[in-house]
Parts: sequence; C-alpha cells; structure tokens
Amino acid sequence: MTKKKTPLRSAASYGKLDRDGFIHRSWMKSQGLPDEAFDGRPVIGICNTWSELTPCNAHLRDIAEYVKRGVWEAGGLPLEFPVMSLGETQMRPTAMLYRNLLAMDTEESIRGNPMDGVVLLGGCDKTTPGQLMGAASVDLPTIIVSSGPMLNGKYRGKDIGSGTDVWKFSEAVRAGEMTLADFMGAESGMSRGPGTCMTMGSASTFACLVEAMGLSLPYNATLPAVDARRKALAHNTGRVIVDMVRQNRRLSDVLTLEALHNAVKVHAAVGGSTNAVLHIQAIAGRLGLDFKMQDFDTLGQDIPLLVDLQPSGRFLMEDFHYAGGLPALMKQIEGKLDLTCATVTGEPLGQSVTGAECFNSEVIREVETPVKDLSGAWVLKGNLCPQGALMKPNAADPALWQHTGRAVVFENIEDFHARIDDPDLDVEEKDILVLKGCGPKGYPGMPEVGNMPLPAKLLAKGVKDMIRVSDARMSGTAYGTVVLHVAPEAEMGGPLALVRSGDMIRLDGPGRTLDLLVDDAELAKRKAEWQQTHPASPHTRGYYKLYVDHVLQADEGCDLDFLVGNSGSVVTRESH
Ligand code: FES
Repeated sequence: MTKKKTPLRSAASYGKLDRDGFIHRSWMKSQGLPDEAFDGRPVIGICNTWSELTPCNAHLRDIAEYVKRGVWEAGGLPLEFPVMSLGETQMRPTAMLYRNLLAMDTEESIRGNPMDGVVLLGGCDKTTPGQLMGAASVDLPTIIVSSGPMLNGKYRGKDIGSGTDVWKFSEAVRAGEMTLADFMGAESGMSRGPGTCMTMGSASTFACLVEAMGLSLPYNATLPAVDARRKALAHNTGRVIVDMVRQNRRLSDVLTLEALHNAVKVHAAVGGSTNAVLHIQAIAGRLGLDFKMQDFDTLGQDIPLLVDLQPSGRFLMEDFHYAGGLPALMKQIEGKLDLTCATVTGEPLGQSVTGAECFNSEVIREVETPVKDLSGAWVLKGNLCPQGALMKPNAADPALWQHTGRAVVFENIEDFHARIDDPDLDVEEKDILVLKGCGPKGYPGMPEVGNMPLPAKLLAKGVKDMIRVSDARMSGTAYGTVVLHVAPEAEMGGPLALVRSGDMIRLDGPGRTLDLLVDDAELAKRKAEWQQTHPASPHTRGYYKLYVDHVLQADEGCDLDFLVGNSGSVVTRESH
C-alpha cells in the first residue's frame, strides 16, 4: 500500500527562507555543510551510544561513518548525535537503573531536533532497548545497527565465552578447582576487541530479536563487530533509512504485534536472555500493543532450543554467524513465524528467511534434533509471586524443576555477601536460597544478582546448582535453577518480603507455580509487622527519586509509569 506523502518534518526548520530558516541553517553551516545540504533532502539522525565507558559500543563512531556514506549516497543529510551510554560492566548500581533515562534522552533528542528518520547505534545490554523505547514514543522511520558480537574469547587453546565462563571460573575458584592466578589469566583473552558479549547474553538476544522484528538489515545480529561486512551493513543501512523516509515507513509500520510475536518465538529458539522479557514489554507499552509477560511463555512453548550457544549450549556468536546467522535459524521455524511482517526495507521478513542456508547443523539445529526440547521462559504464579515470576528452563537443572525446600533468606545483597560463605551458615543442598531487596525500587534498578553464587561449603562438596528465588534479574550469560523477577518485589511489601528462613517453598516449574507454604493468618501478621518497621526510601532527590517513585514492577516491564505510550513527532513552537 502506498502511503500519502507528508512534508518532511525537517522542512519546518531548514526549508524556510526567513529569519527562522536563517538561524537553523547558518549555525549548521559552521560545520562545513554546503547550501545543497539544506535543499529539502531527508535529514537522518544517527543516534550514537558510543562511549569509552561502554567498551561493547566503543567502535560505533567508526560504524557511524559508514552509515553516513550510505545516507549521502542516497541523497540524505546525516547528522550524528550522542545519547547517554550504558556500559553494563561499568555502571553502578546497575545499568538497568538508567535504561529509562536513556529512553528519555533518545526520545527527546529525536523529537526536539529537525530530523526525518533515525538510525540507532547500540549494542551493550540496555542501550538498544533504551533507544528503541525512546524512538517508539516518537515513531519516525527508524533502523537499528547493532554493535555486533566480540570475536570468540580464547584461553589456553580453548574458546571461552563472555560472562558464562566468568561465572564458571569464579565458582571453580571458590570450589578449589581452579587457582586465582589461572582465573585472572583468562581476563585478557576473554574480551579481545570491540563488540558485545559473544554468548547468547542479553545483548546478543536483543540483537536477534531486533533482526527478527525486521528492524535491521539481515545478519545484523550475528556479524562480528570487527567484520568488514558490518561496515558494509552500516553503509547499506544509510541508504535504506533514506528510502524509509521517502516512503514514510515508520517504526510502528514494522514494529507490530505480529513482529513482537515473531521475536518471542525466535527468543525461544535461540535460548534468549530473561532480560528480553522486560524490554519487550516496555517497548510494547510505548506503542500501545497488547502484549503481556504471559505471552512469552505461551508463544514460546512449542519452540525448542535450536542454537547450541553458551550459556545453554556450547558455541559462541561467531560460530552462529558462520553457520548461517539468524536467517538460517528462522528458516528452521519458518512455519511458526509470520513471514508477511514488513521489515525496514519494505520487503517482508520471508525475503531473507526463505532462501537462507545452514552451513553447520551442529550450531543451528533442525527442529527434529534440537539442543533441548524445552526453551523459552516459564512464567510462574502463586502466593509467593501474585504478579508473576520468571524461570529459564533450559538453563536450569531438570532435577530441580519440581522441588519443595526450606528457605534460607537473605534480607538484602549486603546480608547475602556477609553470610553466604560463613561456614556456620545453616544451609543444605536441598534448601532454597531467597534474596530480597533487589527489585526495581529496592536496589534500586533490579540488578543482575539473581544467579547468586552458591555457599562455598556446598561448592566444596561438589554441589553445582540450587534453587534461587529473588526479585532481581540475571545476566543472559548466566545459568542455574534461578527464579527471577518476583513481583511484587520485597520493597513493595509483596509476599517475598514476608519469607523467613525455615519456611517451606514449593516450586513447580512445569506447573508454573511458586508457593510459600505458610498460612494466610501468619502472612497477615507478618505483613502488619513489615508495614510498621519497614523504613522509607532513602532516595529523596535526583534521578534515583524519579525512578523509585515511578518505576513499574517487573511484570509490566519496569518502564516509568509516565513514559508508557507515545507523543508522536510534532513540535509546533519555535525556539526563537
Ligand atoms: Fe556489554 Fe555484555 S557487557 S554486551
């Protein structure tokens, strides 16, 4: 369907032969732009999360130059601008606290400036979701170029994976199976260049979902960060975004409910991070799409794990790309996907999927020979999580999927660190570790501490997994029988706040339940005590206060309540 052509929004600034037009153009010409740059051509913003404090995105200034080539070539005017960057491994208390601040920065930077389309450059875990949330609330033509994954990590002749091997090595040191010197020796070999974690962590997961939703060119998710073909992809993206503007193909024309459903199915097939659940809900909220946490479970249920990548499998993102990348993976489940969904190019998703080839069936499996039969995310309900909780079955020990055990409770992260390795801690292998105070409001920001390390004395006995329950998140690179995103969080006085050491908890993953086996009268008594003794939030100013006052719970995607929805791109008033 051909859309009615609308005037370029940049014309309101650059197209006027009057005082206002003079002001808008003249100052821009200080950068060496010729008159022709303002001849009515599409203006393309390049929204960059480059930062030396976000090493995964450290090459994005370079990538931006290739986007600009394509924009110029197609007859557009590229203008690069920075937004807040979020380095997952650097920011305290957690990069997730700032995802919504990046979203606000992105939204207002796009809306406030005279651009007609935007290319989002991001990659590290929270950068792409934050940018996409902001862009969705403006709804211009939009394309994403991801950082791309790092090259495979190398240590002593073996491949090692970002994050996943950090957790493994660290537990091996605590169990006395690896020396600290050997652990530290792996540090330089793990991260050998720019790009995102090369396991199926949160960044790789979200890059796969972006491609599955048609928001990038094919192979954007898997092409290594340093591969020359990523530069070519950036160049082509520059051409395509100009065409998107000319066709008035907006973000909401591509990012539909059907596209979100495709993303959830791909999430299951790649064994994606639980963090994606929060981000997809938040993005759906910006676009007013009817998508619930439960949909992740329902839509992913009959999709097996088909990519043999860490943390659920063996290989790494470089291997995934050489095996055929995301199009080859989507080909395996094409019968489950809506291949008619539009992509940024205007072609349907099926265009890149139908002819895709797999070059390594060990890395990308067929549906008949999956890595694991079960994948996706289990959404649990019960009296311990009335609004829901999440569990990643393919990362968990099947022997623990259904289990009743005694709670060993830690009131907050400091309590956990102080006692977890205490030889006198009353804990056994069949117990359930419970951590409170790590939700969106409680930490604040909902950090990735849900895969809490096991007690040293149990590790020494060879214990490899235990059930862990918290209101925290978990890194997409992590693994274990971990119940996350418990809502309402402890800080809200949810049932999690009322659990005490010695209580019995029953987990039934396949039955999707999580229950605290304490009677209602006792819970009511504990709740009254909690209300009388729980201190007020210590966050009384600045962004922390804004966040704590307005953040939604995990079952709603942790957006700020007043950011849900969108305001379009129109700004009627001039600045002078
Ligand atoms: Fe940036 Fe993993 S730390 S993607």
